[in-house]
Amino acid sequence: MKAVRFHEVGGPEVLRIEDVETPTPGRGQVRLRVAASAFNAADNGMRAGFLPIPVALPHIPGYDVAGVVDALGADVEGLDLGQPVVGFLPMGADGGAAEYVIAPADSVVPAPRTVPLADAAALPSVALTAWQALFDDGALQAGQRLLVVGAGGAVGGHAVRLARRAGVHVVATASPRSLAAVRAAGADEIVDHTAHSLLDAVGAPVDVLLNLAPIDPDDFARLVSLVRDGGTVVSTTAFMPTPGDDTRGVRAATVFVRADRERLAEIVGLVDAGDLVVDVDRRIPLDALPALHAEASEGRVAGKVVVLAEDTPR
Ligand SMILES: NC(=O)c1ccc[n+]([C@@H]2O[C@H](COP(=O)([O-])OP(=O)(O)OC[C@H]3O[C@@H](n4cnc5c(N)ncnc54)[C@H](OP(=O)(O)O)[C@@H]3O)[C@@H](O)[C@H]2O)c1
Repeated sequence: MKAVRFHEVGGPEVLRIEDVETPTPGRGQVRLRVAASAFNAADNGMRAGFLPIPVALPHIPGYDVAGVVDALGADVEGLDLGQPVVGFLPMGADGGAAEYVIAPADSVVPAPRTVPLADAAALPSVALTAWQALFDDGALQAGQRLLVVGAGGAVGGHAVRLARRAGVHVVATASPRSLAAVRAAGADEIVDHTAHSLLDAVGAPVDVLLNLAPIDPDDFARLVSLVRDGGTVVSTTAFMPTPGDDTRGVRAATVFVRADRERLAEIVGLVDAGDLVVDVDRRIPLDALPALHAEASEGRVAGKVVVLAEDTPR
């Protein structure tokens, strides 16, 4: 099969398109014929060796995947050959930037019926991150106020929709680039972070501050004053510490997305119910993945990109 792999960590040039033996599923695993994988910033970090996630080399990136069950290993129940599924694969294992991928059976769930299968690759890890940040790490509850910094990205769109659906008042940042998307997600108040200071624009304290943006650590620390006594600061930008305030009981939590099959199935249900939206900015072929990593290394990838397996019609 065709796959994109790297044999050593380094710049985007370490990615190569190769012919690789088609893998066979073991006990508790399935093989997927890949429709698409999604690109995430963490793919770039793992390839560059920045992230503390051990990968066996050579490694195929693409831990978010959508495809069709193509072979079943022993002891797999509840999945059928030919079934369309999505999954958040173990990040250190080979991913879906290939024609086929092996997935633990408990990492995949039936795909949404209302979006093209390849586009569904854009859903798993970002939606799980939003859910876990808000309700697990953030302990957000109905009737509370939430500030989302960086709401215009993939995680942010899901976070705003999930919070609104849970009866939360959402204040969100958006530059002019992402204003329409954040408004469509249902934010109650929107602050253009390129034109206004959040410290001035947020009128009343929030219960939870969720940061999704690569803001300056000192600016992040100043935003803690917007959180009420006993509130929570949650951040997905794990490359910098999450600030809290012990003197006021403001808790700090850094999110590391976790596999959760039941929650992922629930998220798929929300997509089919129209409560969550899968936004795909670009669909690229496998052989364009090295160029996409090069773009990401220069900080130029905005919006979700899915990487189509070679035999997927476009
Ligand atoms: N820890 C984990 O387990 C985990 C899991 C998933 C993702 N992540 C990380 O979480 C972050 C969010 O993910 P994503 O996919 O949603 O990223 P994304 O699509 O890049 O979105 C980030 C958003 O932040 C906005 N932004 C940039 N600078 C800003 C600033 N100074 N103030 C306010 N907003 C600003 C961006 O601009 P606009 O306002 O112009 O739209 C963009 O919408 C990324 O760093 C990602 O790597 C971590």
